[in-house]
Amino acid sequence: MLDLGCGFGWHCRYARTKLARSVVGIDLSENMLTRARESTDDPAIQYHRLAIEDIDFPEDTFDLVLSSLALHYVERFDLVCRKVYYCVKTGGTFVFSVEHPVFTARAAQDWSYGSHGERLHWPVDQYQEEGPRQARFLDHDVVKYHRTVATYVNTLLDCGFRLSKLYEPSPTPTLLETHPEWQEELRRPMFLVLAAIKSDREQSEAANISPRAAR
Ligand SMILES: C[S@@+](CC[C@H](N)C(=O)[O-])C[C@H]1O[C@@H](n2cnc3c(N)ncnc32)[C@H](O)[C@@H]1O
Repeated sequence: MLDLGCGFGWHCRYARTKLARSVVGIDLSENMLTRARESTDDPAIQYHRLAIEDIDFPEDTFDLVLSSLALHYVERFDLVCRKVYYCVKTGGTFVFSVEHPVFTARAAQDWSYGSHGERLHWPVDQYQEEGPRQARFLDHDVVKYHRTVATYVNTLLDCGFRLSKLYEPSPTPTLLETHPEWQEELRRPMFLVLAAIKSDREQSEAANISPRAAR
């Protein structure tokens, strides 16, 4: 398995508990990778400092490529998608979550408030204007890239992937019983999760895609 933007490596270790044979986690941040290595005692997990945009793994290497909440930091989702298509095996899966486009459309990423500070609604604006958004994350300025749902889905399809699932996760009833404050998360989607399968070569050629073009 390959984990793009692995952070502290939680999904890498989780994949091993689910019997992944070996796992590669990549991330740009040396701080994240240091924590990941400190938390991992498993020779079947390797961490590398590498930008997601720069992956260059051999053809048909991975059964699964996963990315959790990292691809909205990447400007060229189309390029990454083509590179993932190249290094995932035929029949293998590319599954990723991003901040939902309803969430990334406005740089402010905040509710509209009433005069008493109550949350009125989640404003969505500039939805069709894809591109960078200066946002704040944990008291840091960060650039996130807004894309529409259509762009995420169609980019996967244009690369030759077959969409297998689209999720907009929300709190479960059990979670809401113990944490009623999560009720707010039912008002707008925060995450978008897409799972796609690499179709066989004949199908991708029919779609006019040359995996080598990704290199
Ligand atoms: C919100 S964290 C998610 C971490 C982890 N995937 C998780 O779900 O716990 C986003 C991670 O993506 C990494 N990241 C952001 N842009 C990146 C890029 N262009 N290449 C590699 N890693 C990147 C950050 O360093 C950070 O560790």
